[in-house]
Order: sequence, then structure tokens, then C-alpha cells
Amino acid sequence: MKTKFQSTIETITAATIPMHMPGHKRNVAMLGDDLPYSVDVTEIDGADDLHDPEDGGIIGSLCHKYADLYKAKSAHPLIGGSTCGILAGIRTLTKPGDAVIVARNCHKSVWHAIELCRLRPTCILPPIIEEYGICGTIKSAAVEDAFSRSHGATCVILTSPTYEGVISDVDAIAEVCKKHSAALFVDAAHGAHLGFSEHFPGFPRGADIAVTSLHKTLPALTQTALGLVFNEKYSSRFARNLGIFETSSPSYILMNSIARCADILADRGELFDSYRAMLDEFYASTNPEKLKLIKTDDIGKISISTRGTNFTGSSLAKALRNRFHIEPEMVHSDYLLCMTSICDTRENLAALSRAITELDAEAEYSEGRIYPSFITELPPAEIPLADAVLRDIPDGGEISNAYVWVYPPGIPLLLPGERVTEEIKNHLEILKISGISPKIIKTS
Ligand SMILES: Cc1ncc(COP(=O)(O)O)c(C=O)c1O
Repeated sequence: MKTKFQSTIETITAATIPMHMPGHKRNVAMLGDDLPYSVDVTEIDGADDLHDPEDGGIIGSLCHKYADLYKAKSAHPLIGGSTCGILAGIRTLTKPGDAVIVARNCHKSVWHAIELCRLRPTCILPPIIEEYGICGTIKSAAVEDAFSRSHGATCVILTSPTYEGVISDVDAIAEVCKKHSAALFVDAAHGAHLGFSEHFPGFPRGADIAVTSLHKTLPALTQTALGLVFNEKYSSRFARNLGIFETSSPSYILMNSIARCADILADRGELFDSYRAMLDEFYASTNPEKLKLIKTDDIGKISISTRGTNFTGSSLAKALRNRFHIEPEMVHSDYLLCMTSICDTRENLAALSRAITELDAEAEYSEGRIYPSFITELPPAEIPLADAVLRDIPDGGEISNAYVWVYPPGIPLLLPGERVTEEIKNHLEILKISGISPKIIKTS
């Protein structure tokens, strides 16, 4: 399925001698055609410019198409993943040193933006869903409470949906933000597929700016994402900040993939119907007794809880991998996550269903320990994050000199400058017991 984007590139390159980058010169006779050299160009005449797209140009048209698809004021194709959109979006909505309100379960890229922009975060700790130990929804009342704890926060930053598909009421939170004259940034990296059919929840359009990773839940190549501006006043500032955080040599291969994904969203709505039907079939045929299917707002995220059984997330993943050739997306102490999309097949989902049923029959009830997937108390920030990363904090002390996270999901359990509480120490111990190694990224 060739995009108009690709045909345009083929037309403009067909009759020209490439005296320009990239150095492979599209010479497939010499290099072979196993890599997409022929569509890999640079900003030559007719190929538009990601950092300054022309109205009617191939990239400008793509921006308009995505703005229509997501009903945004402007859309910005990203080839540096949601990560670069998060850095640019948070910089757009804040000034250096601003107070901000941040959901503590945000991805590391949010914390890196806070570090780089020297922001002063007041954290919201998401509630833990007791039954499964995963982070729950952020309520507007929790945001209101955070405003009372923060001094003049100018921006609220949260993740919706989460990796596991938990959605927060972004519209209600947007109202609270308006009341306090603060902007709202939503990391919707895991929600690119939302809003295209009545079978799935809507996209979080109450944000001033949101980012979403096309590559995570839609048919698009790794690194492709979108920045979506819902409040027009931020469009040009966001574009400028993207120019700071994104390469000045954007990949046309990735942009072509973004173009193809737009065509699929615009023209193949029926794929969401068959996706929903496949998922319904999966849930109807999968009824484990000891293992539990975790229900969240997004049924496309199939998380399996091992809580109360003799499996851990890691041992279940090992069994799926070694015995059923199924590779899950993410493994935690007592659950794992399988991600699905419109590109899955009935056969794949049936194989997953059979594997869960078989492993459930082998599972045994076990009292065991309860493994929370996240902290349940905010560690006191003894030194503000932005200062802590510049300080020489000794190893092994009571104050963290590192970001500590499990990857995936890359959500910090501990931030530089935070007190290393007993809960954190226990948590790290539990991870060790359950075969998961946290990454410790030292900043001093
Ligand atoms: C919640 C969340 N936000 C942002 C990102 C970064 O997205 P990307 O990999 O597209 O840069 C991730 C990546 O896993 C994520 O889980």
C-alpha cells in the first residue's frame, strides 16, 4: 500500500541525480534493496521540511490530516518518539523554575523534562488498585488538592492512558486547571488508538498539549509519534521547541510510515471493528481461575495478574516465552502485560488464550507476598530534583543520587534528591526476589 507521501518522493527523485544527503545516494544496485534506501531522502525540493512544513507540502498535508483525525488545532509528526514531544511539550507550557503538579507515575521522559527545565514538582501519588497492585486513575479532586499544596503551579502533567490502560478523567482535570490558570499536559503515549471507534475510550483532548506514540498501538514504525496541540496559542511555541529536541535530519522512512498510518486511520475504520470482535472472542474464551485478567479502561491491554498463585510475573513470562513462543511486552513482580493492536490476528489471540488456560490449570494457589507495582507513599524530596542532579550526593546515603526504575515501564521508583525510605528499600528487595533488576542511573 503506497502512500501519496511515498509516490511524491518517488516522483521527485526519479529524474534527479542526488547531489545531496544521505550518502547512500539511493544506489540500490550497489547496496541491495533490503533496506528502504529509495524512499530515504532529505529536505530536497518538493520533499518539504518537518521543522517548517509548507501548507500543501507532503509534510504540511500530513500535519493537517492528523489534526483532523485527532480533532486537534495542530498536529506534529514526531520521529523521536513521544520522548521528544514530552520534552518539547513541557518546555512549551512552562518557564524555567516554574512550580508544576506531576503525577508521580509519569515516564522518565517527563522527569527529564522537569530536570532540564528546572521545574519544581508537587507530586500526586496515584492510588493503587488493591486487587492487582497497579496504579489507578488520577481524580480531579487529587489535582485540586495538589494545587493547595503547590505554590502557584503553572502546569499539570499526567499520563493517560497508563501502560496498562488506566484512564484519568482529563476533561474534569482540565476544568480544575482552568480554575487555577494552569496548563495541562497529557502523556498519552499508550493511547494513539483511542477515539477512532465507539469500541474504545476517547482520546484525551482536554489537554492543552498531548503526545502519543503511533508506534506503540498503531501500525507504524518504532520512534513514530505525534504531538497534538489542542490549545492553539501553544502551536508555534511547541513547533519551536520540537526544533530544539528533535534531529534536524528527520527520517523520511519514519515519516512515510507516519503517512501510511494516517491512511489506515482515515480509510480502514473497519479494522477497529474486527479488532474489537477478536478481543471479545479472546475474553469470552479465556476464563482463568487462579491467574486473573486485569480489567482496565482499555481492553486492548491484556494484563495477567499472578497474585495469589505460585507464579511471579517473570516466571509466567518465561513459561509463555519458552513453551508457547509468546513474548509479552512488560513483566512486573506479580503481573505481565500483553499488548494488542488492529494488526493482531485471531490465531495469535487464540494462542494466547490457550496458553493462559493451560498455565492457569498448572498454577497453584499460594499465600505468598503481595507485590505492589509502585510506591504507596511519596518519598520526601529532600533536595529539589533539578538541584539534586547537579550535586555530589554520596553513594549509599539516605538521599538518592540516582533515578531508579524498572524498564519497561521506565517510571521512576526513586528520583534524585528523594529520601530512600524503608518502603523503597523493601520494594527493591521484592523486585530482586521476583527476578526483576531495577536500573540505577546515577546523576552524581
Ligand atoms: C508512559 C510513556 N510515556 C512516554 C514514553 C516514551 O515514548 P517513546 O518510546 O515513543 O519515546 C513511554 C515509553 O515507553 C511510556 O511508556
